[in-house]
Amino acid sequence: MKLPKVIGHRGACGYAPENTLESLKTAADLGVKWVEVDVKLTADNVPVLLHDETLDRTTNGHGPLALTDFESLRALEAGSWYGESFAGIKIPTLEEALALLIDHGMGLNLEIKPCPGREKETAEIVLDEISRIWDDHENILISSFQHVCLECARDMAFDWPRGLLLPEEWPENWADLAEYLDVTTVNINGNTSSREQIEEIFDLDRSYAVIAYTINDPQQARRLQACGVDALVSDTPDVIIENLLTVH
Ligand code: G3P
Ligand code: MG
Repeated sequence: MKLPKVIGHRGACGYAPENTLESLKTAADLGVKWVEVDVKLTADNVPVLLHDETLDRTTNGHGPLALTDFESLRALEAGSWYGESFAGIKIPTLEEALALLIDHGMGLNLEIKPCPGREKETAEIVLDEISRIWDDHENILISSFQHVCLECARDMAFDWPRGLLLPEEWPENWADLAEYLDVTTVNINGNTSSREQIEEIFDLDRSYAVIAYTINDPQQARRLQACGVDALVSDTPDVIIENLLTVH
């Protein structure tokens, strides 16, 4: 896997509304090599980019995405909450996002973030779609906090790199989970993880790359870099790129 040192978070969400095509384009314009996005399903099983379970924070709609069909979702706009210059933009499908990234030669950390209770179907539908559209196995990582999603990815698309997302409080069995799910990366909260915790990952017999989210402070970026962290996910990836010692 060609993991870059810095990955744009939800596109480049420090500069444009998260998880939109505009955010992906902004990341491309900044020269960012990879982006992270969140994907989940509409009520009628269309994979779309959205972080929250509900529409309220990032659109002019209301209620759970899991109860909203694609046509109703597309009637909403997803830019005004961020700034008037983005008024009128729509929530993109995963398919539209993949097409844009392929056009720009960018890599993807795809976070499968299912609506509660829809873990398996979300992973299956998303992986089907990816298999149809994306063929560059070196520039993709399938990540999730949900172990069921990673289990599906392991079983359906074994040769695609997977990343185990750990919450702020690491589960006690994180190392067993990483081994069972046969992941390539362990993705940690870089703002709350200590050097000792990071060393625990590097001390394991199996070697994992470590990705830290969500790092917007250059000093924090340099601390994590000194701990040996391989990649940082940032809302302002250009700022972090400028502040790392070396970036490949
Ligand atoms: O993948 C890193 C990061 O996106 C995980 O947290 O809540 O921003 O999706 P969140
Ligand atoms: Mg995410």
